[in-house]
Amino acid sequence: MLALVAAPSREEKVELREVPEPQTRADEALVEVRAISLNRGEVNRLATAADGWRPGWDVAGEVLKPAADGSGPVAGQRVVGFSNFGGWGQRAAIPSANLAVVPESVSLALAATLPVAGVTALRLLRLGGNLLQRRVLITGASGGVGRIAVQLAHQSGARVTGVVGGAERAAGLEQLGADQVVVGIEKAEGDFDLILEAAGGASLAQSLKLVCPRGTVVAYGNSAREPTTFLVNDFYLKQPRLVGYFLVGDAAARPVGEDLARLLELVATGRLDPQLALEASWREAESALEALRERRVAGKVVLHLD
Ligand SMILES: NC(=O)c1ccc[n+]([C@@H]2O[C@H](COP(=O)([O-])OP(=O)(O)OC[C@H]3O[C@@H](n4cnc5c(N)ncnc54)[C@H](OP(=O)(O)O)[C@@H]3O)[C@@H](O)[C@H]2O)c1
Repeated sequence: MLALVAAPSREEKVELREVPEPQTRADEALVEVRAISLNRGEVNRLATAADGWRPGWDVAGEVLKPAADGSGPVAGQRVVGFSNFGGWGQRAAIPSANLAVVPESVSLALAATLPVAGVTALRLLRLGGNLLQRRVLITGASGGVGRIAVQLAHQSGARVTGVVGGAERAAGLEQLGADQVVVGIEKAEGDFDLILEAAGGASLAQSLKLVCPRGTVVAYGNSAREPTTFLVNDFYLKQPRLVGYFLVGDAAARPVGEDLARLLELVATGRLDPQLALEASWREAESALEALRERRVAGKVVLHLD
């Protein structure tokens, strides 16, 4: 079968190649993949990956062969799932606990946006507890995780501030539920109960100043690829929490299927728009990856396996 694999000599470090068919364990379904979505974490990992490495977390398609242990969706059902890498291929073996059935009214392309970006946004917000009337700051609000987190935080009753890199990147965020959008985190004025921080570097240092006493900062990315320096005295006097979050590790302990089903229901009932901003053939993966890397996408990228 064909798959997108790491190719260090290529501009975007990826190319389509023949690879062996996946082998399924008893708890895994074999999925005929129709659509995949791209994440910044995959772009970053491809930058240093060895030749032949198989990326790919987000897959949507149809079940070819259900899990041998009888768990999960049956043959022919439309599903979306989370693969611990290796998902960007014509077929993928996915644990049934990481799959959800896609409702008729939701396209496979839209469903494919949800495993990493949607489940991460949902689980990050849960770390803030009850968000009713809480102030939530979301850095990278223009991106894949950010645009979903803005909507879920707003629906939870939070007062949401989004941070973007330029005025044009703010487009649509107020309609999605942001009460305020600032260009650059320096423009944000504290105190915030919950801060979702993935820009990294100086943005994390600034977040530690903006968190309210006993509030929570969740560090879940480092898009800037920079170290963070901060004066710890300013931080500990307020007694906040600095929490790390990593979906791949979390999903190994707590599979994502049920959360995916919850997100699909929100999409099916019009309460969540995953902001699918760029769709292309997987034969055009390089230009799509370049657009994502260069911060030219306001939301999610989905590739169709045509
Ligand atoms: N820990 C986890 O489990 C987990 C899960 C998902 C994602 N992540 C991480 O979370 C971040 C967001 O992921 P995503 O898929 O939503 O990415 P994305 O779609 O590319 O969005 C990231 C946003 O961050 C902003 N940003 C600020 N500084 C940046 C920089 N130096 N380089 C690139 N972007 C910058 C960009 O917005 P502006 O251009 O408006 O500034 C961009 O829209 C990434 O760092 C990713 O690795 C972590």
